[in-house]
Amino acid sequence: MTSKHARSAQPATGVAPAVYGQSDRPPRGDYSRAAADYTCAQDYAAYTEADHDTYRRLYERQSALLPGLASRHFIEALPRLGAKERIPRFDEVNERLYRATGWEIVGVPGLIPEVPFFSLLANRKFPVTDWIRTPGEFEYIVEPDIFHDLFGHVPLLFNPAIADYIQAYGQGGLRAAGLDACEMLSRLYWYTIEFGLVREDGGLRAYGAGILSSSGELAHCVQNPEPLRLPLTLERAMRTLYKIDSYQQTYFVIDSLQQLFDFTTQDFAPLYARLRNQPTVAAHTLEPADKPIAIC
Ligand SMILES: [Fe+2]
Repeated sequence: MTSKHARSAQPATGVAPAVYGQSDRPPRGDYSRAAADYTCAQDYAAYTEADHDTYRRLYERQSALLPGLASRHFIEALPRLGAKERIPRFDEVNERLYRATGWEIVGVPGLIPEVPFFSLLANRKFPVTDWIRTPGEFEYIVEPDIFHDLFGHVPLLFNPAIADYIQAYGQGGLRAAGLDACEMLSRLYWYTIEFGLVREDGGLRAYGAGILSSSGELAHCVQNPEPLRLPLTLERAMRTLYKIDSYQQTYFVIDSLQQLFDFTTQDFAPLYARLRNQPTVAAHTLEPADKPIAIC
């Protein structure tokens, strides 16, 4: 799940779906099923055999790509998702996840606005879209579906450092909403939880869900010499614009998963105040102070 940067469109009934940018079609997902906090029960009976087959094929293809490209923490945690032949039941995942880190996954009909998103994370509840892409979208889907949310995000919720970081992000998001700083904070989420790289075993590995659930970007982000790779600093990441419709042109690298949580122990309010006086940076723009990381 990602909050991106949303506005709300008021529907005739139910909660308001999240809308991003301009689109020729309405938001996907049945928001009339959602409660006021945007959560909904996983409608397991609604999955068809074709849905389960899509999940099985996505899981099989993606898990085969992980060695040497994905963080070992992710690879080690992946089996804890459970079933790979069929779409997992959220309550069965939660039995293991809650015991491990106190987190739960909750169903949502699709993208949700920022404040409900932050509120769920602050309470150690991770929103997972409960529908799956069509077979025709096997290679690419615009918005997150259950495969992105479950396969990409949930394994690292079993990791204590990531579990604490995402909760801190949610708590920080609620504060940022009061400071009109959500856009800056959302860039940090984008460049860490969605598209982050970590140093491991003498090289770089992916830990971001947007990468881990993408067949093409996984090798691209680790092996292609084209994109910029920079050590993660809060200021640089929060100033950097990002692409939502292509591979990233800049990736930020951390030394360890624990480093992510350590970043959140400082007060972001003075940081936001400083950043308001600084220009944003286009993706793939090298600044004089940057120290790009070369790949071997
Ligand atoms: Fe995501």
